[in-house]
Amino acid sequence: MISISKLSYSFGRQLALKDINFCMKPGEFVFLCGPSGAGKTTFMRILHGALPVQRGKADVAGYDLNTLPESRKHLLRRDVSVVFQDFKILTNQTVFANVALPLKVRGIGQHIIEKRVRAVLRSLHLDHKTGAPCEELSGGEQQRVAVARAVVVKPKLLLADEPTGNLDHELSMRMMDIFQQFHKFGTSIMIATHNREIMERMADARIVTLEDGTMREGCAPSGGRP
Ligand SMILES: Nc1ncnc2c1ncn2[C@@H]1O[C@H](COP(=O)(O)OP(=O)(O)O)[C@@H](O)[C@H]1O
Ligand SMILES: [Mg+2]
Repeated sequence: MISISKLSYSFGRQLALKDINFCMKPGEFVFLCGPSGAGKTTFMRILHGALPVQRGKADVAGYDLNTLPESRKHLLRRDVSVVFQDFKILTNQTVFANVALPLKVRGIGQHIIEKRVRAVLRSLHLDHKTGAPCEELSGGEQQRVAVARAVVVKPKLLLADEPTGNLDHELSMRMMDIFQQFHKFGTSIMIATHNREIMERMADARIVTLEDGTMREGCAPSGGRP
């Protein structure tokens, strides 16, 4: 699903990712952990084509990112959904409109859109907010809208950047249940997080750590898990 070799990325003189090698098989569930500033968001942005591959090689969901032209990036994004750290939802539109948008873009019929959007909103306990404008929602509710919009298209690969950052314990656990459900249906999932509780909830998941732009297998030593 993901094959990365010798990937480096710099913002000007600041080296954000250093010589990263990483593979993810279809159907894997991976936590990407590491402190703030470690490069997690930068790594995910490269994976869905928002940042270019400056050095090294990257292949994601069958697309060679070294050669994929800008005009074909929409194809990559059909298969790879993202939950952004800052949500990027349309706050002046309703919950329903936000979640329906990626289905509309794919030309899916209104009847199926209604069904799929309502089912996803129900599973995220947002059904009572279906018609509400997103600007009236709390941070945690907006975060769930961002997750609903990402999963509604049933992507091959889901990248979620700190998806529980604004949620309390109970909602974080509920969100993990949603990710787990999608994982069972075959979606490959990568979640960037520092939340130990959600990593412990998924004891079988693989953990990789980014620290100062360098990646290694396993959890940070400060984390209390081997
Ligand atoms: N747009 C940007 N311009 C300049 N530096 C950036 C930019 N985005 C991130 N960085 C730097 O790259 C490093 C990695 O950042 P980021 O990927 O956001 O880390 P994380 O998501 O793990 O907190 C940090 O040192 C950060 O300051
Ligand atoms: Mg980040």
